[in-house]
Amino acid sequence: MPATSCIRTDESDAPLWLFGYGSLIYKTGFAFKARRPASIRGWARRFWQGSHDHRGTLEWPGRVATLVPREDAVCHGMAYLITPDVLEGLDVREKNGYMRVVTDLYFDDGKRSEALVYMATEGNEAWLGEASALEIAQQISTAVGPSGPNRDYLLMLADSIRDMGHDDAHVEAIEQALLALEAGVDRS
Ligand code: BEZ
Repeated sequence: MPATSCIRTDESDAPLWLFGYGSLIYKTGFAFKARRPASIRGWARRFWQGSHDHRGTLEWPGRVATLVPREDAVCHGMAYLITPDVLEGLDVREKNGYMRVVTDLYFDDGKRSEALVYMATEGNEAWLGEASALEIAQQISTAVGPSGPNRDYLLMLADSIRDMGHDDAHVEAIEQALLALEAGVDRS
């Protein structure tokens, strides 16, 4: 597993980098001082986390992105330079099994830093784990939560990754499965 550590955000007002790999790429809703495309290494984006309170409900959970350790993986996303007070709002917004860790951050221009990242690890209360692209797409296609339809989350994330000039085979496979389902194409 890539090295991560805990960061003390209660002792300093110094700005820090937050790395977003899911909805934080396209939806902020918080103040930031800078926004830069970036990546983290040794982590892969996976739709393995259940969503009871954003893109699904307790009865019909949706699926949202988390990170799993994978040697040689590069996860592309967006880094935000924020002040620590922003984390209070985000901790509420991103509850449901997520915790913050610190990891190395690589900006697309070659510079490096450290960043906070929210991730939900195996065994948390909302963990769903691995499934096929079709199974994940089927679950996403019907789930709706207070933040809206789960399919919108998937499609906005897939678009945002492409807009940044990157691809993510896992996300694209689920996107293709969802679009086929919606078009009534039988891929079973
Ligand atoms: C993200 O976009 O990085 C993110 C969003 C919600 C929960 C965890 C991470």
